[in-house]
Amino acid sequence: MKRNLIIASACCIFSFTAIAQKKTIDQKVDSVLKLMTLDEKIGQMNQYNGPWAATGPLTNDDKLLDQIKEGKVGSMLNVTGAKRTRELQDLAMQTRLKIPLLFGQDVIHGYRTIFPIPLAEAASWDMKLIEQSARVAATEAAASGIHWTFAPMVDIARDPRWGRVMEGAGEDTYLGSLIAVARVKGFQGKGLGNTNAVMACAKHFAAYGAAVGGRDYNSVDMSLRQLHEVYLPPFKAAADAGVATFMNSFNDLNGIPATGNKYLQRDILKGQWKFKGFVVSDWGSVGEMIPHGYAKNNYEAAMLAANAGSDMDMESRSYIQNLSKLVKDGKVNISVIDDAVKRILRIKFVMGLFDDPYKFSNEEREKAQWNNTEHRKIEKEMAKKSIVLLKNDKQTLPLSKQTKTIALIGPFIKAISDNLGFWSYDWPDDSSRITSTYDGIKSKVSADSKLLYAKGCNINDSITTGFAEAVETAKQADVVVIQVGEARDMTGEAKSRSNIHLPGVQEDLIKAVMATGKPVVVMINAGRPLIFNWTADNAPAILYTWWLGTDAGNAIADVLFGDYNPSGKLPMSFPLTEGQIPIYYNHYNTGRPAQNDSDRFYRSAYIDLSLYPKFAFGYGLSYTSFEYSDIKLSKSSFKPTEKLTATVTVKNTGNYDGEETVQLYIQDLFGSVVRPVKELKGFQKVFLKKGEAKEISFAITTEDLKFFNDKLEKIYEPGDFKLFIGGASNNVKQTSFTLTK
Ligand code: NOJ
Repeated sequence: MKRNLIIASACCIFSFTAIAQKKTIDQKVDSVLKLMTLDEKIGQMNQYNGPWAATGPLTNDDKLLDQIKEGKVGSMLNVTGAKRTRELQDLAMQTRLKIPLLFGQDVIHGYRTIFPIPLAEAASWDMKLIEQSARVAATEAAASGIHWTFAPMVDIARDPRWGRVMEGAGEDTYLGSLIAVARVKGFQGKGLGNTNAVMACAKHFAAYGAAVGGRDYNSVDMSLRQLHEVYLPPFKAAADAGVATFMNSFNDLNGIPATGNKYLQRDILKGQWKFKGFVVSDWGSVGEMIPHGYAKNNYEAAMLAANAGSDMDMESRSYIQNLSKLVKDGKVNISVIDDAVKRILRIKFVMGLFDDPYKFSNEEREKAQWNNTEHRKIEKEMAKKSIVLLKNDKQTLPLSKQTKTIALIGPFIKAISDNLGFWSYDWPDDSSRITSTYDGIKSKVSADSKLLYAKGCNINDSITTGFAEAVETAKQADVVVIQVGEARDMTGEAKSRSNIHLPGVQEDLIKAVMATGKPVVVMINAGRPLIFNWTADNAPAILYTWWLGTDAGNAIADVLFGDYNPSGKLPMSFPLTEGQIPIYYNHYNTGRPAQNDSDRFYRSAYIDLSLYPKFAFGYGLSYTSFEYSDIKLSKSSFKPTEKLTATVTVKNTGNYDGEETVQLYIQDLFGSVVRPVKELKGFQKVFLKKGEAKEISFAITTEDLKFFNDKLEKIYEPGDFKLFIGGASNNVKQTSFTLTK
C-alpha cells in the first residue's frame, strides 16, 4: 500500500512539466504541497551555507550534503559558480520529490564586474544607471547558477558609524525608496524566470539602520510613527515593485526581535501590504532570539519565528530541528508551515526551476559573462557619476593632461582590491582586471607627462617613515594628487567604528605634503562619510571617490582630467565630528530652533559644536557653476483636487558643460504632528551646456504632502507650506504656498 502511494506520487512528480502547462502557479504549488510530508515541508524552510565560503558564523556540519539528498534543505547560500550549483542541484534531484534548491548570494554591488558600493551609487541620483548596475550584476550572477541576491539593502541610515551604511542609499526616505525600486527592477529584469534575472531581497526588515549608537546588530527603539514615516517606505516601495523576497533583521525593534516580530511580518508585510513572496531570516537570527532574551531555547525560537511569519531559516538550524515537534505539540499550526512552503514553492515555479532545475547553472553562459566589456563600460559610467566633488578652490580641477610632472601619493594610488569595497568577490585574475588610480592616470596623461609615486604611509597605522619620501616627491612635481581613505574591510557588516576620522596618519601625510606649497588634490576612498576637517579646510580640491569598483582608476582619471565633469551629490550628511551623530537634514525644528551657532538660549545643539554638518545632504560641486532663478509657482494656494507647479530656471554660468541635480524640498509649517524642517520631494537631473539655461518644473499634489499622523494614518492636512528648490539641501531658493480645504 505504502509502496503504491510512493509510485503514485512519483508519477505525479514526473509529470510536473505536464501539470505546469495546464495549471496556474497556485494550482501547481497546491499539487506539490499535497504530496509532501511534514518533514519535506520543513526542509523547504531550511537554508544552509555551502561548504566553500561563509558570510557569518559557521556551524560545522559534515552531513550537510547528505541532508540535501534527504530533502532537508530548500535553499543554499554562498555556493558560487555554475559547476558547484549544478553539483548541489544534482543532490536535490535525488530526493523523493525532486524539489529544486534555490541558490542565494550577497550580490550587493556587482558579481564579476564590481560596481561602486551602493552608497556611492546613491550619490549619482541616477535611477536609470542604478537599475542598469543591478541588471549587470543579475546577468552575471544568474549565469553562475545564482537565483537570488540578498539585495537591495533599503535601510535608511542616519549614523555613519554604522558599518553597513555602505550598503544602502543613505539617509533620505524619498531617495532611498526610488533607489529601492530601481535596484529591484534591475535585479529582476524583465521578469523572474528569465535566465538573466535573479530574485531580489529587500532587507533588513526592519529599521536595522537605526541601531543604537550605530553599533552593528544593536537594538532599535523608535516610535511607530517614525518607523512608518522614515524607515518603512523603501520596503513598501520594494514590495510594490514586485520584490520576490524580504529578509528580516538581527535587531530587536521596541523590544521584539525583528525575526520574531509579528507586527512587522504578519500585520504589515503580509497583511497590509499583501506581500506574496517569502521572508528569509538573517543569518542565524532565529537562534539569536535566545541571546536576545526573547526565546528560552531553539524550540521556542523556531516557534516564535515561524508564527511571526519568518518563512525560511538561514543557518540557525532551529526550524529543521524543532518545527516538526512544534507542529505535533500544537505550538505551530500546520497552516503556518503550509503558507511558508507555498510561498517558497511558488517562487521556485516562477523561476522555472521545476521545469529545469539547472537552467541557471550554465558554464558556457558563465564564461561569456566573464570580462564582459559592455558591463565594464556601464561600471565605469556608474563610477564616474558616483564621484562627488567636495571642494575646488581656484579651479584647481580639472588637471591638464599636459601637466609636466604629477606626484601621486598615498596608500590608495596603487590599490587594487581596496577599490572594490566590502561585499565584493575576489576573482583569480583581479589584478589584471581592476584599474588602479595610478594606471588610470597613466593612460590618461600625455606621453610627455612624468608620474612620480610615493606611498607615504599605510592606511591604518602610526608609521610616518614614508613621509619624507612623499614630501620630496611632491617637491619635484607641478601638482600633487593624494589618495587616502578606508581599507576595504573598514566599513561593512560588523565594521562599525566609533572614530570615523581618516584612519591612521593619513591626514598628517596630507599636512606634510601640503606644507610644500604645491597645488594638491585630495581624493578620499571610503564606504561611509568620514571626518577630515583639516583637509576640508585647507586642501584646495577634494573628490570623494568612495569604493568605485572594477574600473575605479579609469573613472577617477576621467574626472581628474576633465573628460567627465563630476555631478555626484551626497546621499548622507557628513558630520563635523562624531559628537553630532545622528545628523540628518530632515530633522524637526524643536521648540527652540537656533538661527545660527551663537543663539544662547536657542540651541537645540551643543555649546562646543556647530549645528551644521561639514557637508550637507544633497551637496556636490561641478567644474562649472549653476545659477538658480527665483521660484515661480502656478498659484499661491491650491485645492486638494488640483496640482501646483513650481518652476525655476537653472543656468550654467561657468566654463564647462555639466549636469546638475535640481532638488525640490517641502516643509509643512504646522501639523497635527510636527514636521521636518525640509523633506526631499522630487529632483531632476539636467544637463546644461556652457551658457545654457533651462526651465525645470515640478508638479506637486497632495500625495507629496502626506505624512503619518499619530494614528498612523497617511494623510495630508490643509495649511501653509514652504517650498525650496536648489542644488543642495542647504543651498536653496525658497517660496511658500497654501493648501486650502
Ligand atoms: C548577514 C547580513 O546581515 C545579511 O545582510 C546577509 O545577506 C547575510 N548575512 C548572508 O550573507
